[in-house]
Amino acid sequence: MTKEDAVKETPKEIFLKDYKAPDYAFQKVDLIFVLGEDKTLVTSNIRVIPNFSDGAPLILDGERLKLVTLKINGLHVSKDNYKVSARQLHMTSLPTGSFDLEVVVEIEPQNNTFLEGLYKSTGNFCTQCEAEGFRKITYFQDRPDVMSKFTTRIEADKTLYPVLLSNGNLVDEGDLPDGKHYAVWEDPWTKPCYLFALVAGHLVSRDDSFTTMSGRKVALRIWTPPQDFSKTAHAMKSLKLAMKWDEEVFGLEYDLDLFNIVAVPDFNMGAMENKSLNIFNSKLILASPETATDVDYAAIEGVIGHEYFHNWTGNRVTCRDWFQLSLKEGLTVFRDQEFSSDMGSRAVKRIADVVRLRTMQYPQDGGPMAHPVRPHSYIKMDNFYTVTVYRKGAEVVRMYQTLLGKAGFRKGMDLYFQRHDGQAVTCEEFLAAMFDANKVKFPTFPLWYAQAGTPTLTVITSYDADAQTFTIKCKQVVPPTPGQSKKEPMLLPLAVGLLDSHGHDMRLTSVKDGASLHHLTSADGDYTTTAVLHVDKTEQEFTFMNITEKPVPSLLRNFSAPVRLVSDVTNEDLYFLLAHDSDQFNRWEAGQTLSRKLMLDLISAHQRGEKISVDSAFIKGIRSILLDSSLDKDFAARCLTLPAEGEIADLMDVADPDAVHIVRRFVVREVSACLREDLLNTVKLNRSSIAYDPSHEHRARRALKNVALGYLASLNEPETIDVAVNEYKIASNMTDQLAALNAICQNPGNLRSKSLADFYEQWKEEALVMNKWLALQAMSDIPGNVENVRRLLDHPAFDIRNPNKVYSLIGGFCTSAINFHAKDGSGYTFLADVVLQLDKLNPQVASRMVSSFSRWRRFDEERQALAKAQLERITSQNGLSDNVFEIASKSLA
Ligand code: ARG
Ligand code: ZN
Repeated sequence: MTKEDAVKETPKEIFLKDYKAPDYAFQKVDLIFVLGEDKTLVTSNIRVIPNFSDGAPLILDGERLKLVTLKINGLHVSKDNYKVSARQLHMTSLPTGSFDLEVVVEIEPQNNTFLEGLYKSTGNFCTQCEAEGFRKITYFQDRPDVMSKFTTRIEADKTLYPVLLSNGNLVDEGDLPDGKHYAVWEDPWTKPCYLFALVAGHLVSRDDSFTTMSGRKVALRIWTPPQDFSKTAHAMKSLKLAMKWDEEVFGLEYDLDLFNIVAVPDFNMGAMENKSLNIFNSKLILASPETATDVDYAAIEGVIGHEYFHNWTGNRVTCRDWFQLSLKEGLTVFRDQEFSSDMGSRAVKRIADVVRLRTMQYPQDGGPMAHPVRPHSYIKMDNFYTVTVYRKGAEVVRMYQTLLGKAGFRKGMDLYFQRHDGQAVTCEEFLAAMFDANKVKFPTFPLWYAQAGTPTLTVITSYDADAQTFTIKCKQVVPPTPGQSKKEPMLLPLAVGLLDSHGHDMRLTSVKDGASLHHLTSADGDYTTTAVLHVDKTEQEFTFMNITEKPVPSLLRNFSAPVRLVSDVTNEDLYFLLAHDSDQFNRWEAGQTLSRKLMLDLISAHQRGEKISVDSAFIKGIRSILLDSSLDKDFAARCLTLPAEGEIADLMDVADPDAVHIVRRFVVREVSACLREDLLNTVKLNRSSIAYDPSHEHRARRALKNVALGYLASLNEPETIDVAVNEYKIASNMTDQLAALNAICQNPGNLRSKSLADFYEQWKEEALVMNKWLALQAMSDIPGNVENVRRLLDHPAFDIRNPNKVYSLIGGFCTSAINFHAKDGSGYTFLADVVLQLDKLNPQVASRMVSSFSRWRRFDEERQALAKAQLERITSQNGLSDNVFEIASKSLA
């Protein structure tokens, strides 16, 4: 390689404002795959129709392809009329009007470690095309606004690949000479190429069926390698529940006679909604009580729902361009959240989703990678499958429902499909359908798509006994983010309830917003107990009328807007809300607010070198939750879980991971010591003697018992450790076994090593369980853990080519603040070493790992210098992928 070759050309940034409609339409695409061990031949026949009459060149995307032949209307294209570069096929002197294009390319799926395009996973062929993977299969206008009808013929060895699948319906199959066979699939629905899929391999299916609301029978098949067949029952059950739910809640019916799901062990993301051929990461399909936890069961149900729901929100109506990703992802996450809420406990689901938003999305929104729900630019689209686009996007969709009500939201959805079925559209079109269907206009609401950053909403309240009014003063600030120094106020729906001195909800009859008086009624015209205030100015005042006693306000009920709430509610009020609020989310939130305040105070005291202690009111509050038998036990378990270290660190001016760790651990031990007997009782009372029961009641018992077990083991006393060891021994399912192992492993020493070795021996043949074993060790807070994690890189249970293993070991390690942010920089060096190695194999996964650096400016100067040096080491690397370059360079900017 010459020196010039090694110089990196600056990756190209793509902007939303530069969007142009495609020059050509692809009406029909016929694909032929001849799958082989050394090379695979892909032939595509495309019916091309110019969208304009200006004779523009036809530019096709294509990467890592070997062009074999190129024909137009059956004739070879002359070398003068096309140019091939590393990323494109550029064609000129085209016929006027429509024509047939034939492209033949050669690819090597067996050497594709990027896991995008066509690749092999444990001997089987599979694909991942979203966002821009189709261009690694053949030359194409690889963009979502090019929608075509696809036919796919697959030819392959019959013994090695007995099952051949693609989108749509199977229209032909048969044998070929030399032990080969073929199948032809036809998809009647037009779709963008990112929804194309192909699978070929040795697979077995669990078969079932679903009869749709109009009486059509749909064949359902879940495909896995033969040894995993027994683990697909839960996924199948979830699929049928999801199909039924979408009919009942949104009137949306499945639109083909066949729905296939395939589980593959090597997959960059969670799952993919390819039309009628969803492809899943195995960990989101396979479950048995012995090998999967309750959390896994819930995740499978949610993601099965998510991908199925995409059939309407994503496939039937798709995105015009990738900047609109949240149009389908935010909406579909919202839909899967609602589905899971209806299948289990609504309050607990909301709590879990808000925790995820706060611990993952808020840090992103406050750091160098902050971007709006609809980004303005990107270098690699894969880097924008983010918690902001997905989870903040889902919050934006939820706000429509909070503002319009459930019925109003449904009207908006109906209009959206009525207007846009079969189209590739933008977020504006969704917003217009929602508002038009309800005849409303909220001029500042669109800003949620354009402005990054988590708004801070400050609330000051006051009661006027003479006037019998209660006033809420609001102030909103949307903080500056990279590239957006000035922000405008936007519409925040603020759901408010007022509690009387008995803890009951007061009737809310009317509220004054500035000069205008609004009467408050519920959907059935009666009085309401929760009012949704429309906060849309920088400063604004709302006054509730006819309030006969001084209330305790319950603000931002059900987390009605994704903001940071700062209020003057006192600790006394918070304990009152924890005990009485009818809004379950806010009951939990009151406890969390108390915990956050307590820990932040203790951290300051600790940093000043003072002796710290936990006040008795806090312990009393926790105890009352633990002993309240009227509570849903899953909800109680959530209330007993203190905010994570990361969430606390995020609230400090300068994050101090050591102080956060010491203080959180101290509070856990204080609670455990004070409530020792109650916790022991909780474990005893919630132990289940019977075989695994997946019902909510039993999941909830396990959750509560296991939280108690974690507290007890933190004491590291012989008696409490014995309890954990006993739980480990008698566990009949992975939820209990893993929780007990986790409890034991809090404390370094022989018992820990012995238990880990025992678990390994029991489960070493189960890859998905081994991932839990890796993650448990990687996430550990035991001092100097970086060396253990480094050693695990060479362990037979680890494989750097498998994304799940990387997420467990490397991703897991980065969540342990005290080890990843170790003062000597060893955690940073370790991550950089791995990222550089990984980048050559799989840039998408490497780029997800490098994101752990992005909050480096939140720490003290020494840590900053150490992290910065590693980021610079990464960006100066020759041949770095665009994926890693984008994240690392934006982190440094
Ligand atoms: N659309 C998939 C989903 O259901 C995710 C695909 C992600 N692909 C990627 N290259 N980032 O969320
Ligand atoms: Zn999705």
